[in-house]
Amino acid sequence: MPLKKTNPVTTKAWKKLAEHFNLIKDVHMKDSFAQNPNRAEELSIKWEDFYVDYSKHRITNETIELLLELAEEVDLKDAISKYFDGDNINETENRAVLHTALRAPKDSQVYVEGKNVIPEIHEVKKKIEVFSQSVESGNLRGYSNKVFTDIVNIGIGGSDLGPSMVVEALSYYKNHLNTHFISNVDGDHLHEIIKKLNPETTLFVIVSKTFTTQETMSNANTIRAWFLNTSDVEAIPKHFVAVSTNLEKAKSFGIHEENVFPMWNWVGGRFSLWSAVGLSISLSVGHDNFERLLEGAHEMDLHFKDEAFHNNMPVITALLSVWYNNFFKSETEVVIPYSQYLNQFATFLQQATMESNGKSIDRNGDPIAYQTGTIVWGEPGTNSQHAFFQLIHQGTKLIPAEFIGFSKSLHGNKEHHDKLMSNFFAQTEALLHGKSRDQVVREGKGENLINYMIFSGNNPTTTILINQLSPESLGKLIALYEHKIFVQGVVWNIFSFDQFGVELGKQLANSTLEEVSANANYEHDSSTSALLHHYKQSR
Ligand code: F6P
Repeated sequence: MPLKKTNPVTTKAWKKLAEHFNLIKDVHMKDSFAQNPNRAEELSIKWEDFYVDYSKHRITNETIELLLELAEEVDLKDAISKYFDGDNINETENRAVLHTALRAPKDSQVYVEGKNVIPEIHEVKKKIEVFSQSVESGNLRGYSNKVFTDIVNIGIGGSDLGPSMVVEALSYYKNHLNTHFISNVDGDHLHEIIKKLNPETTLFVIVSKTFTTQETMSNANTIRAWFLNTSDVEAIPKHFVAVSTNLEKAKSFGIHEENVFPMWNWVGGRFSLWSAVGLSISLSVGHDNFERLLEGAHEMDLHFKDEAFHNNMPVITALLSVWYNNFFKSETEVVIPYSQYLNQFATFLQQATMESNGKSIDRNGDPIAYQTGTIVWGEPGTNSQHAFFQLIHQGTKLIPAEFIGFSKSLHGNKEHHDKLMSNFFAQTEALLHGKSRDQVVREGKGENLINYMIFSGNNPTTTILINQLSPESLGKLIALYEHKIFVQGVVWNIFSFDQFGVELGKQLANSTLEEVSANANYEHDSSTSALLHHYKQSR
């Protein structure tokens, strides 16, 4: 069954939220804390090794009640059931959305077109496990019988961002295999990586759901040609494997059928790292850790599916995002992980969030008159404190922030970790309190500088404090955001699971490539014509 199609603006809750917003929009959080000593306790969620504190937000208890009313009126519960049950909620592509099934236990039952897909999911997982272990152990070797030393993931978008982010995040758990990611069609990027590689000891994983994506196939074919400079076609099947739904194209590339890892069309690219798209993860950190990652995500699935909404982390974080996006009119939200391991986390979330919710037509096919998908950005702390925190503290924009931190480090350097986490806690406190004129005057700043030294505070932050970074906790964290994105899309009455918006650029790129390659002159606006002319003169 499809998702219900309620326009959120027509709900009673939305109208109440609009009135409520006018009442509280200028309330300073400092006053809210002063009025309610239990605020932090009431506006936080503790679940397993996660502690989510959302008290440093421009809300009252009533705000949360009204946001939860909104969730009820758009029938979020019904949407969640359909999501997990495999209903065709991706209506525009007539597909289910079942990345959750990829991490479900073996005895689960999830039906797609009348067939329980869990057995085949676990068959593929077994295939990933056997293959990963044979590479890691040295049993599987290259054409000159040398063990593999390097893994190269060739993919882009969801066939790159998830695996790349997870491999970096789990560096602490890595094995001896060096893992590289080639994504951009930029030849310089490609050559910077292959110049480090020995073709005899390198395994290439071509990841493409369609096996037609221009960047991925260009990179794969250039690497294949480079590889054949020092070997012959019999060696291709020993060094290239594929992850794809397109078996025929993978085989015509020279990959043996048993080395094509299947994907399913009910798993979207940006949610696919749990599938064979995560082969590079399994190769890089070992299959046991890959399984632990999936187990963590499954636990978050259960939390999301079963927990009451007022105590449900994806639901609350999503509703807060709606509150700022649609009532405070903030357009971006920033994610600040206080762990360098999560250096790629915000970039991963950019595709997951903006390719899902960057939509302007609603589920009835009508143009939308309210704001939808937020712009997500971010960098790890403490580096970001020396990059863009000036704007967040004293700029003119309201930017809700999500801070992610871990109570325990992995290498055990307590002195450094205490410094890192002191910044983590201090920043959200500073963003809440700011610094008043009186405080600045007491610091003895010259009269002419006082205004520049005042911090208004009242900048909203969510603190996500996790016990320690592990495959399980990373799986939970990623799944938390996947479900946050889902809830946002349900409330905004959009389809979060297609991505037609990426097609136009691809079409124009292909015709422009023909023009450049043939040195022809097609019809363009004057800007594009002049730019192409300049390029063709100087390339
Ligand atoms: O960005 C568009 C997109 O289709 C993504 O959704 C997808 O993850 C990426 O391109 C790569 O697609 P494929 O895995 O088919 O190469």
